[in-house]
Parts: sequence; structure tokens; C-alpha cells
Amino acid sequence: MREAIPVLPMADPDYWQDPYPVFRALREQHRVAQNEQGHVVPLHWQDAAWAVKGTDFIAEGIEVLERRGFKPGDPMHTWRSNAIGVMEGESHRRVRSFATGALSKRNMDSIRPLIRKHAHALLDRASGEAELDVHRDFASPLPRLVMMDFLGIGPDELSGSFAAMSRVNIVDCFGPRVTPELRTAANEAIQKSMDHVAGLYAKRRVEPRDDLLTHLVQAKDEQGALSHGELITLFSTIFGSGASTTSVLASGILELARHPEQAALFRSDPERWKRGVTEETLRFRPAIIAIGQKSAVAQTAFGIPFAKEEPIAVVLGAANRDPVRWDDPERFDIRRDPSNMSLTFGMGAHFCLGHAMARATLDEALACFIERCEEIALANEPRWIPFVMENKLDRLVIRRRTPSA
Ligand code: HEM
Repeated sequence: MREAIPVLPMADPDYWQDPYPVFRALREQHRVAQNEQGHVVPLHWQDAAWAVKGTDFIAEGIEVLERRGFKPGDPMHTWRSNAIGVMEGESHRRVRSFATGALSKRNMDSIRPLIRKHAHALLDRASGEAELDVHRDFASPLPRLVMMDFLGIGPDELSGSFAAMSRVNIVDCFGPRVTPELRTAANEAIQKSMDHVAGLYAKRRVEPRDDLLTHLVQAKDEQGALSHGELITLFSTIFGSGASTTSVLASGILELARHPEQAALFRSDPERWKRGVTEETLRFRPAIIAIGQKSAVAQTAFGIPFAKEEPIAVVLGAANRDPVRWDDPERFDIRRDPSNMSLTFGMGAHFCLGHAMARATLDEALACFIERCEEIALANEPRWIPFVMENKLDRLVIRRRTPSA
């Protein structure tokens, strides 16, 4: 730990319920804080964006998982070693280029009608009920259905292996409190998923289809630039990332329930306001708590000396509420300029590859939701699950009055 740098109270479960007053108070007095592992946390937008951009600080490698107790030979270790998240430079560009075109904004905009179709079908199914269990009925199945359509996975191919993976939040393996149980569950789920994906690739080689699996396997066969492990990890990373969309979708519904005047404005013209609602929810409740980076060289940054490879934690919630970038940042306000982007998808070389899919899903899901609810109220006071890496509510149930009711 570094002396004279304040420490985030991460051992306190209350901090996880609402860390924002802590960020605000610290930001007013300090340029940086540190987490309980002693990693420096920039508190201001500009410093945080600089640390994520990928020049003086670069993505942490497999050492993050090793710090959490995963060892070479563990399925999680093998899987993560092949992930683009731990690559830099040419190898990173090479692997990323395989999926960039397929996940382009243009392609994702073209699936918006499909997203709406799934959203309406889920809401139809729950329409007899005054109460909506947000995760169970809407926020969990919707990104999964969109992902299955996009990837070309039929219900028959969504075997127990993918189901196992969606029960374990892999992102939490990077978090502050990894339990032996989580390690075991994550290793088992990832191994099943890797085996399953290998089987799907083998199938598409024999029976090609018009889907991402076939596209990736054919691109590999033609260009030969992806290893078998990279191919598998790329696909399962994309599949697993739908969980982040789920957490933002649930957060958006929570904030609309808490802010009836914002919900009314959104309902008055969903097409006009959907982008504002999505971007404001992303800013206000970033799905991923922190991005782990490390110092590329020995250097002084934010007035502090860093050794080469020293880790740094970019806490997205702290950066996303810097008053220098957002007026009255503690206010949830869908009228903000949506082009003033937050740090929720990262920045620079590792900028989220699935941001266009996530945005299209959130825009359409939230618009369909508000069109179908004349009034929304919280039926429970949800709690954020503490000590995890992804902002997750334990359970969110809302009461709603539908237009036809
Ligand atoms: C609201 C939902 C999502 C959020 C908040 C989110 C956030 C992020 C963040 C913070 C990163 C790391 C950036 C960094 O390390 O600098 C990332 C990377 C990534 N995301 Fe997402 N993500 C979301 C949805 C998705 C979806 C739906 C997909 C796939 C379709 C996806 C695919 C990826 C991939 C492949 C990377 C690694 C990119 C690289 O290292 O070059 N994400 N995402």
C-alpha cells in the first residue's frame, strides 16, 4: 500500500450499495485513491481515460487471474491466455480483426427489428402479470436470444455447457473476493464451454451456415491466422458478454422506476429518447466495475512514480461522475448529450468490440419496455451484490400498469 493515498473502503458491504458518495468526497480532495490491493485508482475523468487509452498504461495480462488463484493448466487460465483482452499490438489487432466487421454498427442496426420482436414476445409472455421479475422475465433472456440469433446458435445447440456458463459470472473471477467455489465453478463452466464450442466449429466445417461460427471458422481456415484456442476463446467471450447487457438493462429499468418524470418523458417519444436513456444508464451504472491496466514503462503519472508493469485499477463509476465532464453528475438525466460518452465500454485499442450490439439491444429493449408500461413502481428494494466485478442487482421486481390494463 502507498502511504498518503486514501484507500477505498472495499471491505465494507455498504460501500458496494452506493460507492458514489465515497468517489465524490475523495475526488474533491485527491487526484487518486487506491484499492485494497494497493492499486492506484484515478478519480478524475481525464486521468482515468488516459490510463485506459492504451499508451502509457496497457491491458493487464494473465497475471490478473493468477493473482486470483488460477494456475497454468486450469481451464480458466488456458481460456484467458487466448483472449484478446490480454493481447497487445499486432497479435491483438490480428485477432480483433476477425470479429470487427461482423459486429459493426451497420450490422447491429440491421438486427434492431429482430431485437424488438424478441422484446415484445417476452413482454407478451409476462403481460398477464402485474409484477415483472426483471431479470427472469426480460433482462436475462433478451440479450441471450439476440446473441443466439446473431451467432447462429439454435436452441438445440444451447446445451448444458452454455447454460453452465451463463450461471457463473466469469467477470467476477477478476474481482476482489474470488472464492474457491467460484474458481471451481468457473473452471468447470469454461471447460464445458470450450469443449462445446470446439464441437460447434467442427460441425460448421462440415455443414457451413450463414452465421458467425461459420464465418470465423472459414476465415481461420483461409487466413490461418487464428490458433484453435484463440478461435474458441473469441467465440465464447462474445457469447458470455451478453451478461453485461443484462446488467445495464436491469439498471435502466431500475432508474426509470426511481425517476417517474424521466420515465414519462421517455414514454412521450421512445424513438427520440431511447439513445439518451441508454447512454445515461451506461454512464450512471457502468456494468463492469473496473478495468485492470498496468504501467507500460517505469514512469511518473498523476504525480506518482510507477514501476514498469505496476497494476492500476480504472474504476469506471468514479470516472463517469466527474463534474468536469457532466453537469450535476449524480443526477440521472436522459436529456444529456448522448455523444458525450462515458468510459463504460473502455477506450482505445481494447474498446468494447460488442458496443454496437449492446447499444442496439439496450435502445430497443428499453423503448419496447416503456411503450408497454404506463406506470412503473418498485415492488422490492433491490440490493447490489457486493464484492463482485459486475454491477449486479440481487433481484428486481417491478409493478407496472400496461396500456391495455
Ligand atoms: C452493456 C454491455 C457491455 C459493456 C458495458 C461492455 C464493456 C466492456 C469493457 C469495459 C471492455 C474492456 C475494455 C478494456 O479493457 O479497455 C469490453 C471488452 C470487450 N467486449 Fe464488451 N461490454 C458489453 C457488451 C458486449 C457484448 C454484447 C459483446 C459481444 C457481442 C462484447 C464483446 C467484448 C469483447 C470481445 C471485448 C474485448 C475487446 C478487446 O480486448 O479488444 N461486449 N467490454
